[in-house]
Amino acid sequence: STGLILAAALGYLLGSVPYGLLLTKAAGLGDVRAIGSGSIGATNVLRTGNKKLAAATLVLDAAKGAVALLLARWIWGEDAALLAGFAALLGHTFPVWLGFRGGKGVATGAGVILAAQPGLGLLLLGVWLAMAVLTRISSLSALTVCALAPVVAALSGDWRLAGFCLGVALLITIRHHANIRRLIAGTEPRIGRRG
Ligand code: G3P
Repeated sequence: STGLILAAALGYLLGSVPYGLLLTKAAGLGDVRAIGSGSIGATNVLRTGNKKLAAATLVLDAAKGAVALLLARWIWGEDAALLAGFAALLGHTFPVWLGFRGGKGVATGAGVILAAQPGLGLLLLGVWLAMAVLTRISSLSALTVCALAPVVAALSGDWRLAGFCLGVALLITIRHHANIRRLIAGTEPRIGRRG
């Protein structure tokens, strides 16, 4: 229906705003895509050495996903909400404005799942934090959450939510292919270090 198409377009547009790139450029730090992993996400913004900008990137990238989902839910209902959330993730990872080379979707995925199901989102956030504190590796923390998210959602018995989480987790995992190779090789950098 028209609602679903509009929800997808709204989600993609909101998701495609590259906050990490915009903030680092505005701060005169150059192009974040030229350093570290080349990603526009908060983990890579942290490699500029500016913690406040990294935190702002994390919050804004999560917020755009949450806003996309909540707006679509308010206007069109739950199916459109999940579609808009997934479209926001696609907008963030494949932004048309940047030749489809964006981020890896961890912050935006977190915002989207927090908005879809806050209890599940908070639980996954806790797992990410615990892994980040224990391992100091951002990608490994995200990949652990990706493996867990669809399983925990399925345990709740909400199959629509579980399917959604599976899609989100698969996309984020695929976007970490270079990280996975570095993790296996033992060369993945710890949080805050230049990659
Ligand atoms: O937020 C993405 C994170 O999991 C990995 O980022 O820059 O280390 O590839 P990065």
